Amino acid sequence: MDSLKFNKVFAGILMAGLMALTGIKVAEILVPHKKLASNAYPIEVTEVASSSSAAEAPAGPEPVLALLANADAAASEKLAKKCTACHVFEAGGKNKVGPVLWNIVNADKGAVDGFGYSTALAEFGGGWDYAALNQFLYKPKAYISGTKMNFAGLKKQKDRANMIAYLRSLADAPAALPTDVEIAAEMAN
Ligand code: HEC
Repeated sequence: MDSLKFNKVFAGILMAGLMALTGIKVAEILVPHKKLASNAYPIEVTEVASSSSAAEAPAGPEPVLALLANADAAASEKLAKKCTACHVFEAGGKNKVGPVLWNIVNADKGAVDGFGYSTALAEFGGGWDYAALNQFLYKPKAYISGTKMNFAGLKKQKDRANMIAYLRSLADAPAALPTDVEIAAEMAN
């Protein structure tokens, strides 16, 4: 290779390098590397106002003991229809999807003969006193996580009181009504 040819080749390589550099510079000017204040394509995330809704929701069911003595029998009968898809209320009735609910107030949990309870309910322990029924009927799956009673619950305080008063009436010897002391204690909780 003579020196003239070498110079030409060398100049060519130099030019190519310069042009590449210029290209990069021009590209930088046209598309500056600048941090954007916000995403060019904002990602929409629906805000879940968890804190505010949690603050509004009551911590648990409102007390019902004070209402039991003056329950509305007609309203109770109506409410009971919400249960009859799965339960019968008569003494000696047949278990359906759920157990017979005769004489359930103050009975042990999960103790109706011949009914196949969920492990969750069978092992929960304790009896169905008024407070337990109030919790369970408010939101069954919150009170006994894993229960197979697929029922959303009775959200209204009055409804639960009327329902529990009705359950109380379904016995040869209905359980005693709560005393003033018990009512006051429940209110204080
Ligand atoms: C979709 C069917 C269904 C409906 C509706 C339903 N229940 Fe139940 N209930 C069940 C099942 C199933 C169980 C047994 C749960 C378990 O074993 O976990 C049960 C259990 C119970 C128990 C506990 C019984 C025990 O022996 O420990 C009570 C109390 C009860 N239900 C009351 C009610 C009342 C009151 C209503 C109406 C307001 C109602 N249920 C509506 C299916 C239902």
